[in-house]
Amino acid sequence: MRGHLVRNRSLFDVPKDLTYFVHGEDHLVINPAVGARCVLTPAEFRVLEALATGAPLEAAQETEKALAKFILSWIVYYNGHRPTITANESPLNMAYYAITDGCNLRCPYCYASSEKCLPNELTTAESLDLVTQIAEFGAKTIVFTGGEPMLRKDLFEIVAHARAQGLLANVITNATMIRTPQIARRFAELFNSVTVSVDGSTAETHDKTRGKGTFAKTHKALRMLNDAGVTPRINHIVTSDSIGELEKFAEFIQGLDVHSVRLMNHNEIGRGASDNYDFGWNDHLRVQQLVWTSPIAGTLRPDGPRPVSPCSVSGNCGMGGNEIYINSLGDIYPCKLVTGKAEHAGNIRTQPLADIFASPVLAAMRRSTVFGGEFHEDCAKCYIKSNCGGGCRATHMSLSGDLRRNDRHFCRILRHGVVTQLWQESGVSRAEIAADDEAMTVPRMVGGGAVHEAYDQWKTYVPKPPPVIRTGALIPIMPVPRRSGSVPAHQ
Ligand SMILES: C[S@@+](CC[C@H](N)C(=O)[O-])C[C@H]1O[C@@H](n2cnc3c(N)ncnc32)[C@H](O)[C@@H]1O
Ligand code: SF4
Ligand code: SF4
Repeated sequence: MRGHLVRNRSLFDVPKDLTYFVHGEDHLVINPAVGARCVLTPAEFRVLEALATGAPLEAAQETEKALAKFILSWIVYYNGHRPTITANESPLNMAYYAITDGCNLRCPYCYASSEKCLPNELTTAESLDLVTQIAEFGAKTIVFTGGEPMLRKDLFEIVAHARAQGLLANVITNATMIRTPQIARRFAELFNSVTVSVDGSTAETHDKTRGKGTFAKTHKALRMLNDAGVTPRINHIVTSDSIGELEKFAEFIQGLDVHSVRLMNHNEIGRGASDNYDFGWNDHLRVQQLVWTSPIAGTLRPDGPRPVSPCSVSGNCGMGGNEIYINSLGDIYPCKLVTGKAEHAGNIRTQPLADIFASPVLAAMRRSTVFGGEFHEDCAKCYIKSNCGGGCRATHMSLSGDLRRNDRHFCRILRHGVVTQLWQESGVSRAEIAADDEAMTVPRMVGGGAVHEAYDQWKTYVPKPPPVIRTGALIPIMPVPRRSGSVPAHQ
């Protein structure tokens, strides 16, 4: 019916924090509360402004169409209808198991501060039992990490057990110990996904952090994995030092058969808190520019949250719910990067996994979301919260000194990363974003056009001096007694 919506404007409810971004003639409008968004033409945007400010609305077909578009894309509410956000407590999906803390390398940034195998690591029998519990508890995936998982002589036995229990088995490895085609073939048979860490495209750059002779070993292993039919994922740590080599690195990777390359921003955790490397705002911008403009580097996947579909929201990063971490001694934490005493949820030697998962430490974390909860209070007023989900809490903690507090410089990176992805999603090319990213990521309030108050928070934010978080030092290394009947240690 002509004029139906205009006549009923009193039934419209415009969210107070409705936010928009401008690129050329396009207005990307976001409803932060529910992550809804749509791109409006200048004429449509004028209708939205009028609706928000109470200015008169012209009774025209175009106005009706615009109003209907706002309702259908949930950037405004009509007649009392609002989407309800149900924050279901996430069941366990992925268990990271550091099968040993020992490592044959000594990377200067290692968040796990790995060196020697710890005394009293879980035995073969205890590891098998852990895997059974993870499977019975309903998790889908187990990720073998460390330390260097290949140091465990019983690794393949435990992985085979995980597969027999119906779990997907992934591994993260420096690959230096994949020395023969037979071992590579075993990887192909056993693992659903193999991630290899590669820090550079030449011995000069890779060996600088991973150690002398490691590039040759890892490169050879990658070729053997390819020959065995494995298409590995690559983890590539980006530091302010290594960004200049990213394009060369991407070129090197093209000579291999890889699934994807994840750019992991250098985290100030474990040894990474006191090494000589760094990753900040300017590094983030350099990585983005490269990925947007270089046809080769465009295949790399920068770190950070990916926007979720317009009908869903991202409440949190999943720590303590979707994923948990078990260290080599059987201690359980919400995440491999969050291993302080306060986050210790229990030990598998003394409690069943189901009980530990129910512990208040983990429950509080998985219940906390950007829509409410003790770990996300700083996210309440953020314009991209529904798509960011609060970012990596461990990175926040390493910079702010508190798992519950956000580091506003990190938020600046997260916001820029998410908003530019939303523009891409709307059809704007990477080249256009590279030329205009600064202007097109400034958030403005639909009611009045003022810059969103959260945008400049980083300017006045004073981070606490970051504490040196030595992960290994915080793990209770006091041996936990084995349950009777357990078999001798694996080593
Ligand atoms: C702790 S390692 C364990 C597995 C194996 N030793 C390896 O290096 O692949 C797991 C992953 O974390 C990455 N990593 C280690 N320290 C990091 C840090 N401070 N910041 C970001 N990523 C880090 C490594 O490069 C590796 O890809
Ligand atoms: S990052 Fe991996 S390879 Fe390097 S020291 Fe840590 S556990 Fe070892
Ligand atoms: S950008 Fe910062 S404030 Fe916003 S949701 Fe992400 S972590 Fe929270």
